[in-house]
Amino acid sequence: MHETRASRTPSSPRSSTRRPRLTARTADRHELYQIAVQDPETDLAFLEKAFRRWRKRAPYHFREDFCGTALLSATWAAKGELHTAEGFDLDGATLAWGRAHNLRPMLGDAASRVQLHQRDVRAKGRRPADLRVAQNFSYMVFKERAELLEYFRAAHRDLARDGVFALDHYGGLEATEELTETRRCPGFTYVWEQAKYLPGTGEYVCHIGFKFRDGSAIKRAFTYPWRYWHLTELQDLLHEAGFDDVHLYFEQGDEDDQGNGEFLLDPEGRTSRNCAGIVTYLIAVK
Ligand SMILES: C[S@@+](CC[C@H](N)C(=O)[O-])C[C@H]1O[C@@H](n2cnc3c(N)ncnc32)[C@H](O)[C@@H]1O
Repeated sequence: MHETRASRTPSSPRSSTRRPRLTARTADRHELYQIAVQDPETDLAFLEKAFRRWRKRAPYHFREDFCGTALLSATWAAKGELHTAEGFDLDGATLAWGRAHNLRPMLGDAASRVQLHQRDVRAKGRRPADLRVAQNFSYMVFKERAELLEYFRAAHRDLARDGVFALDHYGGLEATEELTETRRCPGFTYVWEQAKYLPGTGEYVCHIGFKFRDGSAIKRAFTYPWRYWHLTELQDLLHEAGFDDVHLYFEQGDEDDQGNGEFLLDPEGRTSRNCAGIVTYLIAVK
């Protein structure tokens, strides 16, 4: 296994809560994913701040593409009565899990402000979003340039007149290396595997797995057959799709080059210091 001095990668720490003892038999892969990978409050705080910076107003209607369990949409709708959300994902079982575990337990009528669609992200929403997001590099599922452009065009078209489209990018020196990284989470170990990267085609296959203290494991609980897209390619495609400006925010690191969750506006990426793993937000404005 590759030894990495990984800093900011998809295996960087997110939120943590105390968990009971888990095993491969008792654990729920969606729950483990949310604990290990997602931090909706932090993400939404950044996204809302960036929206206000460029649009000088608050966003209310939110769209989460590739929403999976819709944790972000649920967290958005919980903010208040004016906050509404639409989530799009092709996987009915994952959406059902999200309805049961993230929407149903919501207080008051907050769940009624979230609409989940089992549809392709290129489909039109009920109404144009103020803030539309594609998190955790999910757009890498589009392997042809024409497909990704079609998605970005659809995002541009179905966005409020002064809307913002936000997506994240994973880069840095180790992003395209074949490697496996592990990280301790409460009650389990998260495993991020960059299993395959072919520089000639960009083919990029990654897996997420989980290991438990009793020695059991859920190997390759999630598999992502992706194409690796470079940050500059994404910027070009977003402009081509009609976005007026694309603003880059690079995650900052601590002294050990671990990502600290703080994203700074940095058009040239000078603050990234070209380190091992770098997460960048692209904030595309209409
Ligand atoms: C990496 S998960 C993202 C989960 C969540 N959004 C997050 O930020 O962690 C990718 C999701 O994209 C969905 N997906 C893949 N291709 C899609 C498409 N063309 N349209 C809608 N959803 C798609 C998959 O079903 C899967 O749930």
